[in-house]
Amino acid sequence: MNITKVKDYEEMSFRAAEYLLKKIVKLKKPVIGLATGSTPEGMYKYLIEKKEEISFKNVTTFNLDEYVGLSKDDQNSYHFYMNDKLFNHIDIKKENTHLPNGAAKDLKQECRDYEDAIREAGFIDVQILGIGVNGHIGFNDPETPFTSRTHVVDLDESTRKANVRFFQSIEEVPRQAITMGIETIMESKEILLLISGKEKAHSLARLIEGPVDEKFPASILHKHAHVEIIADEAALSGVGKYLH
Ligand code: GLP
Repeated sequence: MNITKVKDYEEMSFRAAEYLLKKIVKLKKPVIGLATGSTPEGMYKYLIEKKEEISFKNVTTFNLDEYVGLSKDDQNSYHFYMNDKLFNHIDIKKENTHLPNGAAKDLKQECRDYEDAIREAGFIDVQILGIGVNGHIGFNDPETPFTSRTHVVDLDESTRKANVRFFQSIEEVPRQAITMGIETIMESKEILLLISGKEKAHSLARLIEGPVDEKFPASILHKHAHVEIIADEAALSGVGKYLH
């Protein structure tokens, strides 16, 4: 894992956007894995700022996850988030953007179809990741098997609480989601993990200094050949203090 230390959230976002843009320029048909949450929002802003210089017409995207039971136009769905924060502002072809459909009638089939679509696209060139305080990647909470493929998950109470800030109340936070599995994420050719803020300091220390086990899903990243981490000073402030 290669770690780049930056000053703050702004610099993390800028560096991440630069990293992605370089890939988009270099690859003929880039396939980019995208994430939601607060962490990548700044990166999306920088990508939009470059829209006059860089075209997204050849880019295909796959998002990590989506809530079950929310329609695509629900303001709390990740479909809505991605349209609002990125897709509506760049020249990407909407038919090349993919998120799991959390409103599908047959959720298991939807998971299989999602896996097939990633494979047919030639797998993901760069997967953007955030990290949950409990070490989740996508919606793969602790104890998710490292061998998991795209699947339906029952969300941890801690994960629902962490996301309540986007909803009116905890009752509104869905109890299930579809998420790329850990093995699916690990098949990406490169992974770019973004971490900012002191509330993630313990998670980053655990990731860097702790063991690789399913209690902390992101720890699997140690087994990936090409992981770039961009972390700010606050997120790195716990390194060296992790208690085994
Ligand atoms: C959410 C998402 C993850 C995201 C994580 C961290 O639950 N499913 O993909 O990386 O939590 O979110 P944030 O960036 O808002 O801290």
